[in-house]
Amino acid sequence: MVRVVSTDRGENGLGLNYFQIVWSVLVFFLNASNETIIAMKNAYLKFAVLTVIALCSLMCSKQKDLTIADFNTGSYGDWKTEGNAFGKSPSSGVLPVNIAAEHFASDQMASSYQWGDSSMGKLISPEFDIARRYINFQIGGSRMPDKTCINLIVEGKLEFSATGVNDNVIRTNQLEWVSWDVSRLKGKKAMIEVVDMDSTRKDAFISVDNIYQGDKNKEDETYIYNQERRFTINDRYLNIPVKQGAYPQLMRVSANGNTVMEFVVELAESTPDYWMFLDVNEFKGKEIKVTIYKMIRESTGLKSMIVDSTVKGFENLYQEKNRPLFHFTSRRGWHNDPNGLVFYEGTYHMFYQHNPLGWPWGNMTWGHAISTDLVHWKELAPALYPDSLGTMFSGSAVVDWNNTAQYQQGIDKTLVALYTAAGGTSSWSAGKPFTQCMAYSTDKGLTWIKYNQNPVLPHVMAENRDPKVVWDESGRQWIMALYLDKNMYALYSSADLKTWREIQRINLDNVAECPDFFQIALDGNDARKKWVLTGANGHFMAGTFDGKQFKPETKSTPSEWGKNYYAVQSFSDMKDGRRIQVGWMAGSEFRGMPFNQQMSFPRELTLKTTQDGIRLFAVPAREIVLLHGDKKSWQETVIKPGNNILDPFQDDLYHIIAEFSADRSAAQQFGFNIHGFHILYNNKTGTIKAVRPTDNAVSEVKVKPKQGRIRMEILLDKTSVEIFINDGEVPMAFYYIADEANKKLALVSEGGEVKLNSLDIFELKSAW
Ligand code: FRU
Repeated sequence: MVRVVSTDRGENGLGLNYFQIVWSVLVFFLNASNETIIAMKNAYLKFAVLTVIALCSLMCSKQKDLTIADFNTGSYGDWKTEGNAFGKSPSSGVLPVNIAAEHFASDQMASSYQWGDSSMGKLISPEFDIARRYINFQIGGSRMPDKTCINLIVEGKLEFSATGVNDNVIRTNQLEWVSWDVSRLKGKKAMIEVVDMDSTRKDAFISVDNIYQGDKNKEDETYIYNQERRFTINDRYLNIPVKQGAYPQLMRVSANGNTVMEFVVELAESTPDYWMFLDVNEFKGKEIKVTIYKMIRESTGLKSMIVDSTVKGFENLYQEKNRPLFHFTSRRGWHNDPNGLVFYEGTYHMFYQHNPLGWPWGNMTWGHAISTDLVHWKELAPALYPDSLGTMFSGSAVVDWNNTAQYQQGIDKTLVALYTAAGGTSSWSAGKPFTQCMAYSTDKGLTWIKYNQNPVLPHVMAENRDPKVVWDESGRQWIMALYLDKNMYALYSSADLKTWREIQRINLDNVAECPDFFQIALDGNDARKKWVLTGANGHFMAGTFDGKQFKPETKSTPSEWGKNYYAVQSFSDMKDGRRIQVGWMAGSEFRGMPFNQQMSFPRELTLKTTQDGIRLFAVPAREIVLLHGDKKSWQETVIKPGNNILDPFQDDLYHIIAEFSADRSAAQQFGFNIHGFHILYNNKTGTIKAVRPTDNAVSEVKVKPKQGRIRMEILLDKTSVEIFINDGEVPMAFYYIADEANKKLALVSEGGEVKLNSLDIFELKSAW
């Protein structure tokens, strides 16, 4: 039930008895005449008057809070609903799972969340008297003034309005206190309306709870603003306590009075889930100031930050329960797309979309890792941090062999990166569009300088992004492929990496984001090279490019059939002629870990003519052999149903290469059961089917046997299965965390025997 309580002065239980005593003593003195008693009487009178004044003010300030609504009784009571945004009754337990229970002041609230993005409507209170100084309430949801808001209407006039804080920058489902100072409206009649009039935006909602009148400002009591701490940097890491689901705070780092970094961080208010870090090496010997825009007063988040030579929890680094052991993950925080993949002087550089301070996506920064063999990676300090133009979205890097950008200093070539500054995705870049920017490195990719006249390509349309640059030798020019919008891409050309001219627009069906554009030999024949344009999900078109126009000779064609492979990009400037691609294994999730997401194992791409046309093939980069441990092999073995020769294999990491006779086989289906994950070839349907048991995700693809054989190559890590059928004709990447109780490998033959021509199983070592 919703209560609207009226003023109830004088019910203060403290007051009455005390008054009775003071009154009886007063009556006694008024009747007295003796001189001493008269003196006592005067003193007492003074005391009594003061007491009465003190008591009155105490009573006035002790007025009870008046509940307007706490939505805790299962119904909206005498509040009225209009439309369908708030359902028929208050919500409970319907908000997304990542909210910690302690963040709900109560178990029910008025919310438009559970009724979907398209629902619209209002929730309107009965009329009440404004009888206290403040109206306090908790609110969460979208920052959409007039659309998702709570309004105070007094005598028909809108006096106050508030929204949640969710926008492009902050995303939270938590409620926070807001207080309106309504003292000037005291005594007037008012009503409150909670509004969700947005049906378009995804995740547009409002939640409201615990509305009451009181004489105290709950918002000021709860939060403090702009708290600062100064740190003298004498070590590498600023340790920052983080709790998943904690209220996302704006954290600003400044040096010499200038903002140098700004992030949103789920700062732990007390005990953290884990410690994230900022690599503050570049400020060694200097002072930095950290400002937290808003914190609850009791929060120890800022107080407990510490500069140290290590990161709390690193004693357990790479030993974490669900840490992949040969797939790249960031030591801490989120990552998505591989960016700026480039090879220079024996070193592979992999930059990546990174949230250095959080488990979820956000604060896009270019993380940086290097390797000399594509297998062992060393993480360096991030290369590009968000700035006033935006957070750092995806892009690419090249070696400027001919010094076209004119930054070369010594003999080392300059590395140049093109990236998207995603304006409007941080409060620092509010109101700005997505533009393409440039940065360069004159120290072999170790440190990066942003071009001082960024952007190099102004906003074209929508959220245009993800520039991929390639040198076109025949045209002696740089070409940039850029994602524009929907499934539209564009090509630009440049002589110096700074001035870009659009040359073509291209539609790539069934794809968006992250283009890659490169030349590759068809069927291994260097005299027959093709240009290939790929999009984020690996779909490609192959064709010719004359320096002015790309002419596709194929339709947009898939090149990957798993459930977790996205934002693909290939290395630039490889010296050995290989085209090595890495994908983000999107859809992975590492709950409880201090990191989140994983990269695919690097793949070597080839372009081949098949009976079905030109196809992009992918196999694991040959460097996987660097991790090979013990090997077991079988030749010419017949597998009978139920006869599992792989019983002894109970580890987490394997590289499996098997070749089965498909056409002579009597078996209906054959293949593997790997920790519960099925990879089966069906002789009757001619399809390969991968089934992930944790969510029953299925990928099924037609594959023709080659010379009567089906070849399966499998990479098994702790958190993934990558499958390559028939020398990479059908690659499939899957995120997969097996049940602890099911760490078995089995060769499967159903409905008959199958002949195994050969099988090699390598144990794999951890790359860390
Ligand atoms: C692809 C993508 C890119 C964008 C980046 C942002 O996963 O959406 O288009 O640049 O991620 O992190």
